[in-house]
Amino acid sequence: MNRAHAVLDVQDLSVRFRMRGGRDIAAVTDARFSVAPGECLALVGESGCGKSVLASALLGLLPANAQTTGSAVLGGDVDLLTAGERTLARTVRGRRIGLVPQSPAAHLTPVRTVRAQLEETLRELTGARGPAAVREAAARASFPADHLDRYPHELSGGLAQRAATALALIGDAPLLLADEPTTGLDRDLVERTVDELRRHTDEGRALLIITHDLAAAERIADRVAVMYAGRIVEIADAGSFFGAPGPRHPYAKGLLDALPERDFAPIQGMPPELGSLPEGCAFAARCARADARCTAERPAFDGGLACHHGLTGSPQSLTKAAADA
Ligand SMILES: Nc1ncnc2c1ncn2[C@@H]1O[C@H](COP(=O)(O)OP(=O)(O)OP(=O)(O)O)[C@@H](O)[C@H]1O
Ligand code: SF4
Ligand SMILES: [Mg+2]
Repeated sequence: MNRAHAVLDVQDLSVRFRMRGGRDIAAVTDARFSVAPGECLALVGESGCGKSVLASALLGLLPANAQTTGSAVLGGDVDLLTAGERTLARTVRGRRIGLVPQSPAAHLTPVRTVRAQLEETLRELTGARGPAAVREAAARASFPADHLDRYPHELSGGLAQRAATALALIGDAPLLLADEPTTGLDRDLVERTVDELRRHTDEGRALLIITHDLAAAERIADRVAVMYAGRIVEIADAGSFFGAPGPRHPYAKGLLDALPERDFAPIQGMPPELGSLPEGCAFAARCARADARCTAERPAFDGGLACHHGLTGSPQSLTKAAADA
């Protein structure tokens, strides 16, 4: 993709947490990707691999013990990593990045109705007032007008998600950032939620969706970025990733093979501690393809892949679980 036209262009983004005793946690290392208008990039990977830390870095919401390097340029003119809290709060969050939260119930204010919250955000971000503007904002996220006077606790999980999405859409931000927007929803609601998000993408927004739900990623994404132990190890077109020829990175292949509707063969072992990463490939201890080079030398991320022995769609077993089975 042409980086010049990207809504978001991330280059070599790293996040380190400084811990007591001098030990650093390398939560994100050298992430590189971009997202174009009308495109959905799904960032997937096991729990604890750094997905939410990456999202927090983009929003300027990291805790004080975090150090970031690299760049994350929004709309060609603002580096989110150096912009400063004032700029991020006044011109970026809500206005240029719409945040679809992980837990809508927690994101919504419990003591105020959906209408009151939409009214306030409309006033703040667009200056619009009145019931028609509120109804229109709700309708954009398919939130039913006859539920506007309800409090968050009176909403189902799906409607709370729509209310949160309606709030995220008010600023007409060119980039939507959704961190696990379907957690806790049943399959039917997952599908409806991702279809809604896809619709907003088709209207021309860029969408970065973070999820460990690969079925949701397959349904919504144009491209997939796979993260392992803080690094993006593969970026691929969703069609070739989920279909033929399939993923090129053994870890990505392992993630897909673990799905119940595929081999249902989980990857054996655990990811390494982000505070003590191995010298070579972080996946080596779990990878059936690992050799001496893999344990000695970390593979560079090149051509959308970080692996010394990338796959070319061969059907052989690539993770220890599958190899041992
Ligand atoms: N404030 C912090 N200080 C130190 N370490 C942190 C801090 N916040 C996160 N981490 C560590 O960074 C790593 C990545 O966490 P992150 O929340 O990004 O994972 P994730 O990929 O979003 O996982 P999940 O799928 O469970 O949401 C974890 O090992 C976590 O313990
Ligand atoms: S083949 Fe080597 S470099 Fe590739 S994932 Fe396996 S251990 Fe890592
Ligand atoms: Mg997370």
